[in-house]
Amino acid sequence: MKTSQWLSLSRAARLAGVSRGELQARVRQQDVATFEGQIAVGDLIGLYPEVDIDHDPVLERMALIKSKARPKSRYTDNWLPEPEVLMARLQDFQHVLTRTKASLNTIEEVLGEVTGQLEAAAEADERSLRTAVRALAVRLRQSLDKAQARVDRRAELFAKDAMLRFFSVSARIESSGHEFFVEGRDSLLEAALKAGLHLDYGCSSGNCGSCKVRVLDGKVRKIREHDYLLTAREREQGWCLACSNTAVSDVLLEANEAHSPDDLPSQAVRCVVRKIEPVSDDLRLVHVQTPRTQTLRFMAGQRVSATLEDGQRRDLAVASCPCDGRHLQFLVRLRADDGFVAGLLAGRTSQTLLLEGPFGDFLLDDDSADPAVFVAVGDGFAPVKSLIEHTITIDNVVAMYLFRIDAVPHGSLLGNLCRSWNDALDNFVYRRLDAHLAPDAALQMIAETCGELAKCRLYVAGPRDWIAGFLAGAAAAGVAADRIRTDVIDIG
Ligand code: FES
Repeated sequence: MKTSQWLSLSRAARLAGVSRGELQARVRQQDVATFEGQIAVGDLIGLYPEVDIDHDPVLERMALIKSKARPKSRYTDNWLPEPEVLMARLQDFQHVLTRTKASLNTIEEVLGEVTGQLEAAAEADERSLRTAVRALAVRLRQSLDKAQARVDRRAELFAKDAMLRFFSVSARIESSGHEFFVEGRDSLLEAALKAGLHLDYGCSSGNCGSCKVRVLDGKVRKIREHDYLLTAREREQGWCLACSNTAVSDVLLEANEAHSPDDLPSQAVRCVVRKIEPVSDDLRLVHVQTPRTQTLRFMAGQRVSATLEDGQRRDLAVASCPCDGRHLQFLVRLRADDGFVAGLLAGRTSQTLLLEGPFGDFLLDDDSADPAVFVAVGDGFAPVKSLIEHTITIDNVVAMYLFRIDAVPHGSLLGNLCRSWNDALDNFVYRRLDAHLAPDAALQMIAETCGELAKCRLYVAGPRDWIAGFLAGAAAAGVAADRIRTDVIDIG
């Protein structure tokens, strides 16, 4: 007896949508047989032909009662088990699923084989039929034994995939083919931005409607109320707000993406300075936060114009990843004659900073899988840091090399960050070069580490003269000009 074909009376009654008492009465009337207090699935369906095994009226009733009784916060009741318990149960479920799928695979294979042999046997004369049937039985037994003894990797993968789908589903943008995973409690928009995509959006909070996407396939679910109203026709056509919906299943979306800086709107965002961290005696990492309802949309490697409360203004390279448009970072260097930096660093950490932009074209070649070589000279580390963080996010290149050429002392915040990339990523190589290294010598050392530079994409940021020398050396070494992108950063 396979226990999966039998149900307890309680479970059978619940599935049939009747009381346990009613089912017991049918058993007493001998309308249905039981075995050790259990009822066969086939008998239950015979008794209640309308039973839908996938439909559980009791569970639905419970869900309805709970939804009406549940307090405003969805997560304050005890309906769901603790995450650790849920995880353990899911792992058990994965093992059951693996075994079940493996059995199914075996049956499919054996059935195919049997069909072929039966077809052959049908052609045999009567005398050889008995022999053919015997041979078939032996073959069948061997196939079953062999299949049961082997580890079915397909079944393991199938079960693992099914398990992972509990935690994340995939979304694909139809026009570009870009794919991303929607995990945890992320909205479609949050998931796309975390994956390094440049989906259109504005407020991130359901007010502007800029993040409208159309669901072409799959299911989404609203995760927060929004003020922006979609028309009935839009809803019928599958439009929803990416910032207020998540994916329930794998989804195919129609969505607008920015593919170049020209696709991004010009923005003015009044931010607050949250933290100023020392990197060295004369270098600071400034953390800036946008308001909750507004983020800065930019591409990695771009700049903004920053204006202090007293009106002093400066162009700054954004030193953080565009995947987080709310928490921005900038590197600034202290100089005796620089009023902007003096004002910024002397000011309170809660002072406001008006950011306008973005602009600049020191951008990553998102579609290239070639090794990416980043060369950050002095204050050029700021845009390079943004590019590297974006590169890690989109996970598109086969290898990344970072060469830092500056006088920032060992053990600094930046040094630790570079080492953490080197330690955490298998495809990341970090080298610190002498701060006074000439471009020619640097190029030679970079080539020794990276191999054939002509097959790499190079991103170089630093002082104008240094870059000019590097470009001349790279051209002489046969690196095509379109494989090198540069950013002149003289003052940070
Ligand atoms: S970004 Fe404004 S409604 Fe979604």
